[in-house]
Amino acid sequence: MGEKKNSERIKDEDVINALSNESPELATEAAAATTTTAEDLESKPIPTLIDDLDIQDIPGIGPTTAKKLRDAGILTVMDLAVASSEELSVEINSSKESAAAFIIASQQLLRDSNLLDKEFVTADVALEKRKSMLRCTTGSKALDKLLLGGIETQAVTEFYGEFGSGKSQICHTLCVTASQPVENGGFGSGSIYIDTEGTFRPERIDQIAISRGLDPTSVLKSIAVCKVYNSSHLELIIKDLGKYINDFKARLVIIDSIISLHRAEFAGRGTLADRQQRLNSMLHKIIRLAEIYNISVVITNQVQSSPDTFFGDPTKAAGGNVLGHASTYRIYLRKSGENRTAKMIDSPYHPYSDTKFTVTERGVDDLEEETSSKRGK
Ligand code: GTP
Ligand code: MG
Repeated sequence: MGEKKNSERIKDEDVINALSNESPELATEAAAATTTTAEDLESKPIPTLIDDLDIQDIPGIGPTTAKKLRDAGILTVMDLAVASSEELSVEINSSKESAAAFIIASQQLLRDSNLLDKEFVTADVALEKRKSMLRCTTGSKALDKLLLGGIETQAVTEFYGEFGSGKSQICHTLCVTASQPVENGGFGSGSIYIDTEGTFRPERIDQIAISRGLDPTSVLKSIAVCKVYNSSHLELIIKDLGKYINDFKARLVIIDSIISLHRAEFAGRGTLADRQQRLNSMLHKIIRLAEIYNISVVITNQVQSSPDTFFGDPTKAAGGNVLGHASTYRIYLRKSGENRTAKMIDSPYHPYSDTKFTVTERGVDDLEEETSSKRGK
């Protein structure tokens, strides 16, 4: 306990020092808030539910700062923990250092409350955490096998490929499977579908659910759809995503597609660096959300050459290194006649294999012969 108090003190001092240079009022408040919290922690049991935590439980954050944060749309400890210091400093009109200190303090509170992993854990603890990770079926056994059991929580899975390769079909099917109980290969949760291309079709969800013998109404009710019109709108939605994840009890977030808006709006404007920087900050937020909320994020991406351009490699994903580094897993999809090939391109531990699947009224599905040979067994 003494050790913990020491580490708290260092964090509290960081917050207060960062503030005292720019706002004596906030610094005094931070000092006062710190005293209460340290005493509180001594006498109160440590809360273990995220709903039990208030933003003012964070050492150094009192009513004035809490109000500033609320005005900036940061309502919970989780919102703060996944914020980026650059953006936060602008929003609450503070230095980058104090914004960073608030974020670190919020993450520390989550750690102390056992809601976030310790900064360093031994490998056996890390393995334990991996075991708590959930997987959701894609609807095709072959594709699940490629993914070693389906899409994972705490990870960003990217499907990329040319037009018609099945990216949006995978997304539609995942929303349906995610709504199913864990024992049936789902997440037993809602999902969020961020549609940047206007290709989300509720009728298709209805059809996939019915073909799979599921109740279409409850499946449709489990999916929250957001149609996004421009890159700033997308950035705004992602900024508030933590709130939506809670509201819709979503364990799956789909962004179909992640780059098309930025790609179209920043085309030929000589602002590639600006575009990459904005994509980068959005993607980092997505990664933090996936880890902290224990959700699965699925993004789709185009290939470098698109029907309206002559240049670029049709086997390479668009977005360059920024996207490559953000995705935990990248799967390349290719059309071959009626069938689709999926190839694991980038993964920390999956073998670099490929597999075939198809798209039917059931959404993503296994090829006929595989299905019948399995059924025959
Ligand atoms: P872009 O978004 O254009 O880059 O392509 P995408 O990769 O998202 O393609 P999408 O997932 O939309 O795949 C479209 C293909 O899926 C179509 O060409 C059809 O082959 C197939 N498909 C879509 N809907 C159905 C359906 O209801 N039944 C069947 N059998 N196939 C469908
Ligand atoms: Mg699509």
